[in-house]
Amino acid sequence: MGVVKLIDKEGKTHDLPALEGWRVMEILRDWGMFIPPRCGGSGECGMCHIKLSPEWKDKVPAPEEREAKMLPLLPMNDANSRLGCQILWNESLDGLTVALP
Ligand code: FES
Repeated sequence: MGVVKLIDKEGKTHDLPALEGWRVMEILRDWGMFIPPRCGGSGECGMCHIKLSPEWKDKVPAPEEREAKMLPLLPMNDANSRLGCQILWNESLDGLTVALP
């Protein structure tokens, strides 16, 4: 068990308890930080768009092909954009800090 740190749109940081094997999207969703995405985590809706804090960018596995194709299509995308449903949380990501775009 560890935490995902979510910086909300007002700049406040929330420490969200996280369990190994859960996707970052599921952790944020289950703590009520965004509405349940339409695609349920298949990487097709873009509703789980998050921004990694720069210090975490190289610690999270790189996007696979489907995610890499989706990211440029997202509004407000940048080099730190990711789909939360495509990041599987494990203890090496304890303290992962993300923001909502
Ligand atoms: S939940 Fe739809 S793209 Fe991630």
